[in-house]
Amino acid sequence: MVKENLQNLWSAYEAAAATGGALCARGGDPKRWTAEEWSAGGVSIDTRTLKPGDIFVALRDARDGHEFLKNAFDAGAAAALVARAPEDAPDGAPLLVVGDTLEGLRDLARAARTRNFGKRIGVTGSAGKTSTKEILRAVLGSDGSVHAADKSFNNHWGVPLTLARLPMGADYGVFEIGMNHGGEITPLTKLVRPHAAIVTTVAAAHLEFFNSIEEIAEAKAEIFLGLAPGGIAVLPFDNEFFPLLKKRAEEAGAAGFITFGEKDGADFQLLDYRAEGAGARLKATIKGETMEFFAGVPGRHQAGNMLAALAAADAVGCPLDGAIRALGAISPAEGRGARAEIAVEGGTATLIDESYNANPASMAAAIGLLGATEPGAGNPQGGGRRIAILGEMLELGPEGPALHEKLVTALVAAKVDRVYAAGQLMRHLWDALPPDMRGLHAGDAVGLVGPVLDAVAPGDVVMVKGSNASKVSAVARALKESGVMEEQKESRT
Ligand SMILES: Nc1ncnc2c1ncn2[C@@H]1O[C@H](COP(=O)(O)OP(=O)(O)O)[C@@H](O)[C@H]1O
Ligand SMILES: [Mg+2]
Repeated sequence: MVKENLQNLWSAYEAAAATGGALCARGGDPKRWTAEEWSAGGVSIDTRTLKPGDIFVALRDARDGHEFLKNAFDAGAAAALVARAPEDAPDGAPLLVVGDTLEGLRDLARAARTRNFGKRIGVTGSAGKTSTKEILRAVLGSDGSVHAADKSFNNHWGVPLTLARLPMGADYGVFEIGMNHGGEITPLTKLVRPHAAIVTTVAAAHLEFFNSIEEIAEAKAEIFLGLAPGGIAVLPFDNEFFPLLKKRAEEAGAAGFITFGEKDGADFQLLDYRAEGAGARLKATIKGETMEFFAGVPGRHQAGNMLAALAAADAVGCPLDGAIRALGAISPAEGRGARAEIAVEGGTATLIDESYNANPASMAAAIGLLGATEPGAGNPQGGGRRIAILGEMLELGPEGPALHEKLVTALVAAKVDRVYAAGQLMRHLWDALPPDMRGLHAGDAVGLVGPVLDAVAPGDVVMVKGSNASKVSAVARALKESGVMEEQKESRT
C-alpha cells in the first residue's frame, strides 16, 4: 500500500497541468508563474468547511464562490481555482485561473482518477446510495485504504469534488451518484469510470420530473455508460426493472453482471433475516455457498444494500471473508435506522430514527423495520406499541396523494398500533387509516412534538420517517433530547 503524503494532493504544477489554467499571484502579471510554488493537501468549495492547506475552488452555484476568496485565504487556503481575480482577494494570493471553475474541478477529478491505480465503485439508486457507500467504506476497508465522501456528495459538483480529493495511493474509491432528471448521471459516471456500478433499487422518487418509474430506471441505468473496460454491473434482482437494467448494462458494454436480492436465482441471495441486538443476523447464499453472519445495521433493505456492496467488493477483487466480517462492526448512519433508548416515565422506549429523507421505497422499508421490531423491551411490566411518526414524502407530483394513501396497507401488515402524521399529503393516509390506528394528524411536524412526547410509554417502539423538507426529524430530535433530560433530572436528585 502506498503511504499518502497529505500535504501533497495537488502541487501547483500538477493542478495547472490538469486544468490547463494559468498560475499567477493576485496583483501580479497574470501571464507570469507565481513565484512561490504551492501545494494543496485537499480541495474545498466551501470556506466554512475549508481546511488550512486546501485549494479553494470558486464555484458559481447558489452564490458565486469568487465573493468568498478573502474568507478562503483567511481560513488558510493554499491557493484558489478561479475564473477571475476579484478586488478583495489578498495581494499576492496564489491563483490558478481557468475559463470555468466547474470545468476546472472536473479536470482535477479526471487527473486524480488517471493517476490512481485503485478500484472505483459507483453507487446509484432511488434509495440506499449513502447507506451502501458507508457499507462499502467498511467492507473495502478490510482490505485496503478507501476514499469516499463524508456526506451525500452525489451531484454535478459533489461527484467531481469527491474524485478531485482521491489520494493517489488509495486502494479503493467509492462514489455516490444521484440525479433529479434524466441525463444527469451520464457525465458523472463518465468522470468516475467505475470498475463496478451498483443500482441499489428503482422506485418512485422525484416523480415530479419523470412520467413513469420506468423513466427513472432508464435514468439510473445511465450509470453503466461510464463503466471502465472490464467493468461489472451490480443489479437488484427482485426489482421489476431488473430486465431493463440488465439490458442497458449489456448495451453499455458491461463485461459482466452480478445480482443481489431475496428471490431464487440472485447471485448474492438473502435467505433469512432475523433482528438481533442493534443489528440483524443474516443467512445468505454467496457465490453458491450458504453462510450466516451478524450485520451491525438492521433492516431487510439494509441487508440488500450489504449484499450489493459484497457483490461489488467481490467484483473489484476485495476478499469476501474479511468483507463479511467487517459487516458485523458497522452501525447505521444518522437518520438511517439508528436506534436510541429513550427514558420515559416508568421505563424506556425505543426510537428508530429513519428520519433522513423518504420516498415510497424507503418509507416501505422503514415501516417493515418497525414491523420486524418486537415492542416491550423497555417495560418492566411487559407490553408496548409500535408507533409510526410520519412526515410527508415530497416531490412525488400528481401521484403523491395516492402514494400516501397506499401506506395504510404496509402499516397494517407491520402491525403498527398508532400513526402520528403531519402535512397535507399525509391527510390522504389519515383518512384511510382504521380509526383505532389514529394517533394524531397535524398541519406540520412541529405540531406532533408535544403530543408524541406525551404519548410515548415504556416498551413502545417509535419509528420516525419523512422527507427532509417535512422536518419530521424534529420529532426524533425532541424524543432524544427529552430522554436525555430525564436522565439528567434523575442524576441531579
Ligand atoms: N435499498 C433500500 N430500499 C429502500 N430504502 C432504503 C434502502 N436503503 C436505505 N433505505 C432507506 O432510505 C433512506 C435514505 O437512505 P440513504 O442511504 O441516505 O439513501 P440515498 O443516499 O439514496 O438518499 C433511509 O431511511 C434508509 O434507511
Ligand atoms: Mg444520499
